[in-house]
Amino acid sequence: KNIIFNGSMVDKSTVHIDIEDRGYQFGDGIYEVIRIYNGKLFTADEHLERLIKSATAIEINIPYSIKEIKNLLIKLINENNVTMGIVYIQVSRGVSPRKHSFTTIHTAPVFIAYTSELKIPKDSLSCGVSAITIEDIRWLRCDIKSLNLLPNVLAKQKAVAENCFEAIQYRDDTVTEGSSSNVWIVKEGVIKTHPANNFILNGITRQVILSICKELGIKTIEEKFTTDELLNADEVFLTGTTTEVMPIIVINNHKISTGIPGPVTKNIQSLFTLKIE
Ligand code: PDD
Repeated sequence: KNIIFNGSMVDKSTVHIDIEDRGYQFGDGIYEVIRIYNGKLFTADEHLERLIKSATAIEINIPYSIKEIKNLLIKLINENNVTMGIVYIQVSRGVSPRKHSFTTIHTAPVFIAYTSELKIPKDSLSCGVSAITIEDIRWLRCDIKSLNLLPNVLAKQKAVAENCFEAIQYRDDTVTEGSSSNVWIVKEGVIKTHPANNFILNGITRQVILSICKELGIKTIEEKFTTDELLNADEVFLTGTTTEVMPIIVINNHKISTGIPGPVTKNIQSLFTLKIE
């Protein structure tokens, strides 16, 4: 199996991560997950632009252009024969003797990318899934796709332990986002999602849905909503690269409306499916 390591395609077994890699020691780095549908990258430019933006926000300079990265990723997918899957890209600040502060001039970032198969979760997408709510204990720069995922990991673990698909986070009383997805509600025909600011990751899937809706004159608002509004919504759904457009039918063991995926969610699902084909 081939992977990308610092700009070259190499056999996975030849790659070793240094014990003083700052990604490994401090979570000092950033990442992206890009979907592959039918052997092709979906919204690669948007993901790679966000990768650069995340890196810049934490003062990491990625030494490759978006075009160079994209060409490497296409080669990676072809060499590994992946048709339905994902690409994972990670950039850590690099290797240096352990100390909290960093010197960017002496540390070369460590860039890796690999690909794996991932099927479309057809059953969940058609039947809907359950979620729990959980307090958002993350930092105040959730717009950076950083490797520091401990709060997200613990939130998702709690959801899974309760046989749920996702943990929907709230800060004070405002619903922010899932542990690895964005959250949407529908109430009396109005579609709402949290505004893109420092409290959430501005999901690429989120942006695709917003632009589809705008194109078709389906009204969406980027506005905060409370956990009460979430639980009393007519419909709730999640979006994300691996989540797609996922109906949420139960939250905290409480049915959303009648407990089946609603018409607005289904419509958005089918419009999204048209984009990926
Ligand atoms: N997560 N919010 C968070 C916290 C996320 O981690 C993700 C994606 C999203 C959705 O973003 P996008 O539509 O660009 O995938 C929102 C990826 C898939 C992950 O961590 O595996």
